[in-house]
Amino acid sequence: MIKIENIHKSFNGRAVLKDVSGTFEKGKTNLIIGASGTGKSVLLKCIVGLIQPDTGAVLYHDRDFTRADRDLQREIRREIGMLFQGGALFDSKTVEENVMFPLEMLAPQMSRSEKVDRVQFCLQRVGLEQAAKRMPSEISGGMKKRVGIARAIVMNSRYLFCDEPNSGLDPLTSIKIDNLIQEITQEYDITTVVVTHDMNSVMEIGQYIMFIHEGQKLWEGSNDGIMQAKVKELNDFVFCNKLLREIKNG
Ligand SMILES: Nc1ncnc2c1ncn2[C@@H]1O[C@H](COP(=O)(O)OP(=O)(O)O)[C@@H](O)[C@H]1O
Ligand SMILES: [Mg+2]
Repeated sequence: MIKIENIHKSFNGRAVLKDVSGTFEKGKTNLIIGASGTGKSVLLKCIVGLIQPDTGAVLYHDRDFTRADRDLQREIRREIGMLFQGGALFDSKTVEENVMFPLEMLAPQMSRSEKVDRVQFCLQRVGLEQAAKRMPSEISGGMKKRVGIARAIVMNSRYLFCDEPNSGLDPLTSIKIDNLIQEITQEYDITTVVVTHDMNSVMEIGQYIMFIHEGQKLWEGSNDGIMQAKVKELNDFVFCNKLLREIKNG
């Protein structure tokens, strides 16, 4: 479980996050949603420690990450897996070398054969065992995301973060990636936080949803309740799609 409490962040005097609080539970796919430019990625970066919030706290299973000493920070960082926007694979490394990378950096206690086994297990889990020797330039966009997911879980992460995991993917591949993220979350009982502006993802995997508008949390709930929510900004976001408007109006 991750708790965020009263997060504020300004850049050059402009408030980008205003008093954002919430709880992301273990074993659930937690979504941070909202329009572009509204502060989702900045919030995610505050949570994982890539940006220091001006005030507020981020608690990983009651361990205060924002005020942690060096050792605790390192401990928590090792438990975090991240799927970056665009995949962020090393172009000059094969698929399996990309997945191996965190182990090479962070797992000196593991033997070579343990690492190889772990990489193979993770590639199998995301359905890529056949592509282990290929280069990123030789695989599709959806496969690149799978590599990113395998790399994010290779360290046995307790926390998984994904920033716009569907960017650049067609709708069907997007749903497959969403479902894979949800399956992994439940299978390994980890805490997953996904940033997205994709309504398909919201309806598909939104077990907890935090809606951000201009740096503020205006609504939280689940995909079951989002269609009935009474928040204008959220409605504008959800029903910007003609199909959903027609469904709503019956
Ligand atoms: N490092 C930064 N310095 C200054 N402004 C930033 C920085 N990062 C993000 N911003 C601004 O914060 C706002 C929110 O950005 P972001 O969180 O990336 O939006 P999104 O919801 O699309 O992910 C934007 O106006 C963006 O320009
Ligand atoms: Mg973003």
